[in-house]
Amino acid sequence: MTQPYRSAEIRQAFIEFFQSKQHTHVPSASLIPHNDPTLLFTNAGMNQFKDCFLGIDKRDYTRAVTAQKCVRAGGKHNDLDNVGYTARHHTFFEMLGNFSFGDYFKKDAIAYAWEFLTSKDWLGLDPNRLYVTVYETDDEAYDHWHKDIGLPAERIIRIGDNKGAPYASDNFWAMGDTGPCGPCSEVFFDHGEEVEGGLPGTPEEDGDRYIEVWNCVFMQFNRQKDGTMEPLPAPSVDTGMGLERISAIIQGVHSNYEIDTFVYLIEAAAKILGIENQGQASLKVIADHIRAVSFLIADGVTPSNEGRGYVLRRIIRRAVRHGNKLGAETSFFHQMVTPLVKEMGDAYPQLVELQSKIEETIEKEETQFAKTLAQGLRLLSTELDALNEGDVLSGEAAFKLYDTYGFPADLTADIAREHGIRIDEEGFEVHMEAQRQRARDAGKFDVDYSSVISTESPTEFLGYEQMQDDETTVIGVYHEGNSVSQLNEGEEGVLVLDRTPFYAEGGGQAGEIGEIRTQTGVFSVQDTKKSGQTIIHHGIVNVGQIEQQQIAEAQVFSSIRAASARNHSATHLLHAALRQVLGEGVQQKGSLVTSDVLRFDFSHDSPVSREQLNRIERIVNEQIQANEPARIEHMNIDEAMKKGAMALFGEKYGDTVRVLSMGTHQYKDGVDIPFSIELCGGLHVHRTGDIGFFKITTESGIAAGIRRIEALTGMGALKYVQQGDEQLSQLAGQLKAKRPEIAERVQSLSDKQRELEKELERLNQKLASSQASSLVNEVQTIAGHQAVIASVSGIDGKGIRPLIDDLKSKLPDTIIVLVGEKSEQLALAASVSKSLSKQVKAGDIIRYLAQELGGKGGGKPEYAQGGAPASDKLPNVLQTLPNWLEAQLTNS
Ligand code: ALA
Repeated sequence: MTQPYRSAEIRQAFIEFFQSKQHTHVPSASLIPHNDPTLLFTNAGMNQFKDCFLGIDKRDYTRAVTAQKCVRAGGKHNDLDNVGYTARHHTFFEMLGNFSFGDYFKKDAIAYAWEFLTSKDWLGLDPNRLYVTVYETDDEAYDHWHKDIGLPAERIIRIGDNKGAPYASDNFWAMGDTGPCGPCSEVFFDHGEEVEGGLPGTPEEDGDRYIEVWNCVFMQFNRQKDGTMEPLPAPSVDTGMGLERISAIIQGVHSNYEIDTFVYLIEAAAKILGIENQGQASLKVIADHIRAVSFLIADGVTPSNEGRGYVLRRIIRRAVRHGNKLGAETSFFHQMVTPLVKEMGDAYPQLVELQSKIEETIEKEETQFAKTLAQGLRLLSTELDALNEGDVLSGEAAFKLYDTYGFPADLTADIAREHGIRIDEEGFEVHMEAQRQRARDAGKFDVDYSSVISTESPTEFLGYEQMQDDETTVIGVYHEGNSVSQLNEGEEGVLVLDRTPFYAEGGGQAGEIGEIRTQTGVFSVQDTKKSGQTIIHHGIVNVGQIEQQQIAEAQVFSSIRAASARNHSATHLLHAALRQVLGEGVQQKGSLVTSDVLRFDFSHDSPVSREQLNRIERIVNEQIQANEPARIEHMNIDEAMKKGAMALFGEKYGDTVRVLSMGTHQYKDGVDIPFSIELCGGLHVHRTGDIGFFKITTESGIAAGIRRIEALTGMGALKYVQQGDEQLSQLAGQLKAKRPEIAERVQSLSDKQRELEKELERLNQKLASSQASSLVNEVQTIAGHQAVIASVSGIDGKGIRPLIDDLKSKLPDTIIVLVGEKSEQLALAASVSKSLSKQVKAGDIIRYLAQELGGKGGGKPEYAQGGAPASDKLPNVLQTLPNWLEAQLTNS
């Protein structure tokens, strides 16, 4: 047969080869592992055979061959972040594997691998380019390679426990912390000396020259939780060969992204985006991600906010963002499904069958994300602009991007990384956990009762006059969404009473808390809401049980009620005061009143000044001190409007409305105009004096033209002021100043600091110039030219230039290369005279150093600068520099 070349041909050849060796071709298992809760996605060919190795599952074959879909994103094996930046990372890849369940073992597994890779009838690889590794103590495998296959000893490498524990080795493969495992033998291909990298077991093994292509695992043990190794019922074989890697070898390329499948997908992406393929990393990302996304959707995963669905969402969003980077203006990613189906549909008919479902799912998700992407990117770029390379983006900012704009944390990290900035993952997690807690708290009552609670008979509301009712009746008991005859101790649920003193959440005021007691039990009310005209009490039975039709006592917790009332009434006074100070243009845009705080959103174009806020606070407190009664009247809506009562725009009111007037009165033309008059159904104080004290805590903008004020009343306000007072006293103590002197003292401290910094700078320069004087003695001659190569401590990127200038004035026509070391950072600088710069450029010197030291930099022919992290390699690198310079100077 002709040797396979295309990926599809290689996949097919692998299956046929093992079929010719009596293996049963088993189809790829789903990406969602069905028998293993420990696994997020199928990530190796052996996953579907785990129980066969353990002897729990018996099949009617003992030899199998598969081409298995694998995803390594999310979970323990997460390659998502690397995709696009390396030659071999993928979210989705195919693993070719042959398996023996108690049938053949090491000898045959090795012979098969060798035959398939090297035989001219199959892949026909040059045996001289293959190396193998075996587990250090596995003499058996060693002998098979050496004696049976005839591989010379120098091409068989023994690898021991190189990962810090017994059996922790590159040559001991384990599925996870528990389960089937055993020593393994890997085959490596030499991509040739033009590629950098070393043999396995050498320090350079991570390079790209010697690439592992095939892993033969000799399954022998079942690792237990406590680490003990129990022998498997029968020794078995599990092998894996990445299709993309072997295709790269066969097709003579060094990167997986250059194989036929990817060339095709990358070209398709470029075409869809209307750009030229110039090897952009983003094109690779898109080509990679369309595979993972399509196969995951085909296997039944849908985008969501948790688990597998969230990983899928993250991959789609990452692809969309990379498309956006390449200039995509409309949704594009779903268009990649057609080329994918063309490329892989023959091998995976499910892609063809489900094409439109896959496209729809992607399009919906990308359209949704596109809405917030631009805004989020703007916010992120503002945040990133404020930071420097090497800084950390706050967890709060990353969380805001997640929460408001749907940016998964790894997407934010991906973008930040392009600017050399990390994100504070721990800080992000803290915010995430707080949100989860809020969701858990809110989720306590997430059962929807609206369809089961009869709303025909409105609950009689007694709460305007009283906080307690001794003789109400339980007319509805609900548990987990259903009507029940009773609710038992410890159960959460909902009670409906024929009348109640509990105010249900509405008009910006939160629901209430308290207790409902019957002869047989106590129900703790944790929140109250309205369903139609019915007031529903959410909570939990603390003692005994509550039954239908029982007579009950309902009691609102009075202190909480009073605190909410204070905050609600203060909100009305604040509203009126805002209109006095900022003008009649102020309109209420929203409000929230709980027992702890009050929040008022209103239309206004500019921030409210400190002075205006003081005036507003003073006016509200004057009204509190006036201690006028709060007056409630019911009247016709037109009459209320005539009286100037404020209503919420867009709110529906009945014909008769409840009108609350508060504060001092003015009489104009015989008409009584109260300080505040509003339509309101909420709970309020009896007299303004009940509010006690009002204090604004924050003023901020929440959207264009909308401001938000948050404030406290009563004891909450007092506590706030006391805390501020305490902080000021502490500060005064630390500054050893009287309180009125604090500002002056801080100013003088900061002046002093600036002076000291200047002084330090001056001293540094002096130090630099004295170092420069001693460096003059370090002149060496390289290829007939003068050069100074040295490292200097205590000098950063800023300090190194003056040092170079100083030296240059003392040593004209000298090549000067200095490396400053300060705070774990290296500052690289090079200067070359104009005439010499034709032979060696300062920029090249810096690029050479940066490359050797893992940093970056560059510049002009005569002067260039760069940076790198501190490194043990520095002395060696500086030692190599004269040779390098000599080569440049003599070659030119
Ligand atoms: N299960 C082995 C691997 O994944 C073959 O490398």
